[in-house]
Amino acid sequence: MEYIAALILAAGEGKRMKSNTSKVLHKVAGKPVVEWVYESVKKAGIEDSILVVGHKADQVKEYMKDRVKYAFQEKQLGTGHAVMQAEEFLAGKDGYVLVLYGDTPLITSQTISDTLKFHKENNNSATVITAELSDPTGYGRIVRDDKGNVLRIVEHKDANDEERSIKEVNSGMYCFTIKYLLEALKGLSNNNSQGEYYLTDTLEILINRGLKVGTIKVADSSEILGINDRVQLAEASEIMRRRILTKLMRSGVTIIDPASTYIDDGVEIGMDTIIYPGTILEKGTVIGENCIIGPNSRIVGATIGNNVEVNNSVVLESTVGDDTHVGPFAYMRPGSTVGRHVKIGDFVEIKNSNIGDETKISHLTYVGDADVGKNVNLGCGVVFVNYDGKKKNRTVVGDNAFIGCNVNLVSPVKVGEDAYIAAGSTITEEVPENSLAIARCRQTIKENWVINRGMQRKKD
Ligand code: UD1
Ligand code: CA
Repeated sequence: MEYIAALILAAGEGKRMKSNTSKVLHKVAGKPVVEWVYESVKKAGIEDSILVVGHKADQVKEYMKDRVKYAFQEKQLGTGHAVMQAEEFLAGKDGYVLVLYGDTPLITSQTISDTLKFHKENNNSATVITAELSDPTGYGRIVRDDKGNVLRIVEHKDANDEERSIKEVNSGMYCFTIKYLLEALKGLSNNNSQGEYYLTDTLEILINRGLKVGTIKVADSSEILGINDRVQLAEASEIMRRRILTKLMRSGVTIIDPASTYIDDGVEIGMDTIIYPGTILEKGTVIGENCIIGPNSRIVGATIGNNVEVNNSVVLESTVGDDTHVGPFAYMRPGSTVGRHVKIGDFVEIKNSNIGDETKISHLTYVGDADVGKNVNLGCGVVFVNYDGKKKNRTVVGDNAFIGCNVNLVSPVKVGEDAYIAAGSTITEEVPENSLAIARCRQTIKENWVINRGMQRKKD
């Protein structure tokens, strides 16, 4: 069986990022740059990846773990030198290697598989992924003969004026037949303006040996955008974000304003859901059908059912059932499970709690560490007093209970099914089912107190 691997170069210093974090670990649309490359490789069906690491190698290894093999390049002596460091993994292997960059996240799995297919069909020794750029400054140029055959790649710094006018550039990504690559690497020298071993020089070596070198041009040149600084990081994020949004829109999601909508890769959204402006949907979020999400909402790692509204609210690592209404201005913190047909209204905070079906929590309420049953009504301003200064305690509220406005439930405490609690009560002891609890002072009236004291406030 033929062996196919991806060799991802990621040893460079990334000086222009001005960061303590490795360049390839900076995030594009919620995911590290190198992760995007790795995923495209996997999606193209390539199982084996070799990552060439150098600068901040420990950080990169810590992140990628054992999903890839590692080659270490101590000194960055050029792209050709970087590839040489992976020789032990390739030696003796019969097959192909895709050389990619760890800082080029927009490369698609489609381009990777197209390149591999094209390479094999044409019996090439090397296939270069190229792009046509209106401003090719800085890139290596593809130099061809009169017939259009590739002769070599010349680096911008080494190119003359005529060569610099060529708009077709080297993406830096290639497919090589392993044995030819290994042979050509032996012929590299660092006799050039940068004193580096250029991987690009292998092409001329192969051509001079009479082997076929081909090119495949990407239709969308953004695929070759490399990240060298934070401006390019933002550019790549923007392109990636658009790709994600486009895919969702094509699958039946309405996004009112793509320019102000941020959705991480992998977020799932059902058909006919409408996303209003200012919405951020992060990693791990799953949203059902017919929902209205936003405006101005942030949902992270949450599962939202069908027909749910989340308006101007934050939902973190929680589950929300069908037909439930959240917001405006609600805050659901991690570990909460809310049932169906629930109302979580304005200025309501829910933390680490379960809320049963049909329950209404309409305004100004804090529910922390509680199990609230079905069809419960929490009045305005109810506070679950879950912290006693030392530890957090749980509260249980049974089905159909009615908790009046401005009630404090001092945990741990239990409210039985169908119980009522009078407004303004501070509950410290269990309330049995079907009972009414009143825990507040009786009202006293002092008649004519104002007049007797001469305290009238009315102006003549
Ligand atoms: C390289 C190509 C150029 C191409 C351009 C596309 C060569 C000689 N030139 O130029 O033709 O147009 O990419 O972006 O190959 N790296 C290492 N070790 C090294 C050097 C580089 O791992 O010793 C890695 C870097 O981390 C980076 C990638 O290789 O991910 C590209 O290196 P870079 O120095 O940016 O190459 P360019 O000079 O831009
Ligand atoms: Ca570069």
